[in-house]
Amino acid sequence: MSKQVKVRRRTTRSIRKKYEAGTPLTMVTCYDYTFARLVERADLDLILIGDSLGNVIQGQETTLPVTLEDIIYHTRAVLRGNGSALVVADMPFMTYQGDEIEALRNAGRLLKEGGAQAVKLEGGEEIAGAVRRMTNAGIPVCGHLGLTPQSVHAFGGFRVQGREEDAALKMIEDAKALQEAGAFMVVLELVPTELARRVTEAIDIPTIGIGAGSVTSGQVLVIYDLLGMNTEFTPKFLKRFAQLEGEIVGALEEYKEEVEGRSYPGEEHSF
Ligand code: KIV
Repeated sequence: MSKQVKVRRRTTRSIRKKYEAGTPLTMVTCYDYTFARLVERADLDLILIGDSLGNVIQGQETTLPVTLEDIIYHTRAVLRGNGSALVVADMPFMTYQGDEIEALRNAGRLLKEGGAQAVKLEGGEEIAGAVRRMTNAGIPVCGHLGLTPQSVHAFGGFRVQGREEDAALKMIEDAKALQEAGAFMVVLELVPTELARRVTEAIDIPTIGIGAGSVTSGQVLVIYDLLGMNTEFTPKFLKRFAQLEGEIVGALEEYKEEVEGRSYPGEEHSF
């Protein structure tokens, strides 16, 4: 009789252990059941149901139109496909920046209705009150500093953050404020490597980088980007670990050709 191996889901505790052991944490965005299964097979530590789904799933220019319902829907789908990663759900624009009690309720919905184990919020000191309410209520929170895409209009575009010393010092203070409010982890997006190092050294919770060099406690990438499914997106930080765009288009072209030429379906595919 073959022994069934039971997959155990990561927890904030096991993530903390890996961080303390000094092994980099692996995180990827994911939005659906099929990819979530593959992420489980590759045994990555964390999944983020990012509001980047506004861009890569919905085809929106920014993440701003994404709703709490969108994130809940995709979180549920991901959970059905993956039983091993710690699942973090993004809080969409305007679901946490205003009233702290409303922010707490919205975070609660991501755990209660979506099934997420943690939530992610963009911002530093200005959202520390909301983060504190969440962590007091037993909701693990991941922060997000640097290029925070929900503030794209305030930044005037997607560009590296914290190049000037005053902005760098503010980012370090923001990271400390998030840690103080009980956050268990902080994403650093589009930050110079030296600043990512300073932030990582200033706090004792893990930092997860995207475009922040190799000095952070782990890395995150958007799954379609790392799989090479959008060759028009070419930021410097991105490495494509596969070239699926060409593979997929090639397969679709072959399918079209065979259907039009009546060579598919063949006898072996027919009843
Ligand atoms: O929404 C997202 O995918 C993110 C990651 C890029 C960190 O916030």
